[in-house]
Amino acid sequence: MSYVTMVTSGKGGVGKSGCCVMLGSALSRLGKKVLVIELDSGLRSLDIMMGLDDRVIYDICDVLDGNCEPIKAIYKYDHAPSLYLMPATSRISPYIKAEDISRLCKGLAGYFDYVLLDTPAGIGSAFDAAANAADSAIIVVTPDAVSVRDGALVSRLLYSQGIENMRLIINKVRTDTVKSGMVENLDKVIDDVAVQLIGVVPDDAEFLKSMAKGRALSEKNTVYMVYDRIARRLCSEYVPLLIC
Ligand SMILES: Nc1ncnc2c1ncn2[C@@H]1O[C@H](COP(=O)(O)OP(=O)(O)OP(=O)(O)O)[C@@H](O)[C@H]1O
Ligand SMILES: [Mg+2]
Repeated sequence: MSYVTMVTSGKGGVGKSGCCVMLGSALSRLGKKVLVIELDSGLRSLDIMMGLDDRVIYDICDVLDGNCEPIKAIYKYDHAPSLYLMPATSRISPYIKAEDISRLCKGLAGYFDYVLLDTPAGIGSAFDAAANAADSAIIVVTPDAVSVRDGALVSRLLYSQGIENMRLIINKVRTDTVKSGMVENLDKVIDDVAVQLIGVVPDDAEFLKSMAKGRALSEKNTVYMVYDRIARRLCSEYVPLLIC
């Protein structure tokens, strides 16, 4: 059976999809078979971020509508040993039904070690569907007041829905602010969101470029190294945090 983990945030654009690519890649380098399911309606992005946009024919809606077998809508990422994507539809589709997503996850659970559910911003139907299907959550926030408040709201909502296994990623942290003593502020972020920290990811121009072009990131890149540790920590290895 796989772990079904939702990646969520409340606020948009904080780095959930990038997290799915990097964490999925890092877990797959540890020998895990990982599927990312993109739960968006009409606004997909992971196909580009994973360099699969010219290959995608079938998507999650085709699977849910019974137009194809799930395997036809699962695409292998070229830059990691065993990371796969089921993309969101590019059509404007109405409503993601919780029972459909739960059934899909149950059906696929036997084939993967980890299923990462990439949720869109907000707390709408895709959020509810992911929360219904997931047994754990990763909350991604950036160190700004709006994102932190939204992250805190999301963590409370998930606790109230019975998801107790949650970890926090603080993303897009600027190296200069850490060096000038902003680590204290990171403590405040953790206190406010009230979720155990699993990683602090720097704001990195190379990472931004690689995601825009669907290219692999160098293993010397700090975002790559940070996600390597996040994946190990998720697999219960004792690895200290890397704050760059
Ligand atoms: N650590 C980082 N350093 C630099 N750029 C980043 C970092 N994390 C994410 N980005 C960039 O920020 C933008 C938003 O990231 P991403 O699409 O992953 O966010 P999201 O939370 O999934 O957004 P949405 O809510 O729209 O789904 C992208 O251009 C991405 O490459
Ligand atoms: Mg996204």
